[in-house]
Amino acid sequence: MAELNDGNDAMDVITVDLGARSYPVVIAGGFDGLGPAVVRALGPGPAVLIGSAPLLERFGPEVLGSLSGAGVEAIPLGHPDGEPAKQLGVWAALVEAALGAGLRRGAPVIALGGGVTGDLAGFVAASANRGVPLVGVPTSLLAMVDSSVGGKVGINSALGKNLIGAFHQPSLVYAALGCLASLPAEQLQSGLGEVIKHALLQGPEAVDRLERSAPALARGERGAWAALIGENIRYKASIVAADEREGGLRAILNLGHTAGHAIEAALEGSVPHGICVYWGLQIEARFAADRGLGAPSLPRAVQALGAALDLPEFDATIPTDTLFQLMLVDKKRARATLALPIIAADGRPALVSLDAAALRELAELASSPEDPCARRFPSAP
Ligand SMILES: NC(=O)c1ccc[n+]([C@@H]2O[C@H](COP(=O)([O-])OP(=O)(O)OC[C@H]3O[C@@H](n4cnc5c(N)ncnc54)[C@H](O)[C@@H]3O)[C@@H](O)[C@H]2O)c1
Repeated sequence: MAELNDGNDAMDVITVDLGARSYPVVIAGGFDGLGPAVVRALGPGPAVLIGSAPLLERFGPEVLGSLSGAGVEAIPLGHPDGEPAKQLGVWAALVEAALGAGLRRGAPVIALGGGVTGDLAGFVAASANRGVPLVGVPTSLLAMVDSSVGGKVGINSALGKNLIGAFHQPSLVYAALGCLASLPAEQLQSGLGEVIKHALLQGPEAVDRLERSAPALARGERGAWAALIGENIRYKASIVAADEREGGLRAILNLGHTAGHAIEAALEGSVPHGICVYWGLQIEARFAADRGLGAPSLPRAVQALGAALDLPEFDATIPTDTLFQLMLVDKKRARATLALPIIAADGRPALVSLDAAALRELAELASSPEDPCARRFPSAP
């Protein structure tokens, strides 16, 4: 990935089309263009820069330099690194600190970091002063291809993940590819889990394209990464534009997440989110195929993509009942049934309704690391 670390030109600009709330997503090499982009979107003035402590240390000077060079004087506020930071106490401390630092209506919160910072700082932006503008500066692959686009912000409750939050669209997202040079390998794999999800949702051509680009991605080719990130942002933007508040279509983005979230919670966050989603994609594909609902070739296709992109295979054993209970508190549960996104036999995404008995079968399938392709297609190539 080292060769991604130079260059500052905007390589691509994608618009998330939401009428009056439309915003640009800039893909650039480095941070030089950030300050000017913020000024174009919101004008010069004060701001608050929220990031996890290690990322503020790593990227803060460059980011603050770019902002102040363009006339945006940002006050940095740190938070602890990692998923446990998405909690009420940290959110409250950040809101108080932002208000104490003089955050006023019109002054933006700039979120510098991975999906955790994006969700947490985004919720600060949604709530402080009844809402101030948000600028996303995603630094992890997962945040670039997924969480920074779409306006879902929030924190975790003691009862489950992402149960406290809001929809608050950013005014600008600025992704500097150079950041990815320092991203730990397992976090890169985590982002690729969400990339696989997007490819499956888009259909066989996107799956082929992703598989073919794997060698160039492994070599760290800048053009291949820029194309991958651009394609994923375009796809996410198209779904968000069609269904901003998850009234229907956007729910398909939860593909792999029912099993994935439960595994992630059962493993207490020891495995990054997107890797758990990849396992969830495998398990749910097999579940759907076993029931004659999903594309029969999908379990094998998911596994092939994961292998091409060097993702780890599921190797944990978790009690069925633990997973079942975790799935029951999943926020997608509507009364007695849960809407499970699948890739249907015709290759298109669909939602199927699961009752508690079906959910338990899914939990059973997710409880042990048997070959995800084995059950129905033991002799598949
Ligand atoms: N809002 C949404 O639509 C949405 C969508 C998907 C996921 N999410 C949320 O995103 C979160 C996961 O995001 P994540 O995977 O980015 O986790 P994260 O924010 O915890 O980042 C993962 C780790 O990578 C480090 N890191 C990030 N960028 C780095 C860089 N450039 N160099 C070195 N280290 C770097 C972070 O400090 C952290 O330790 C979860 O909380 C999930 O719920 C939200």
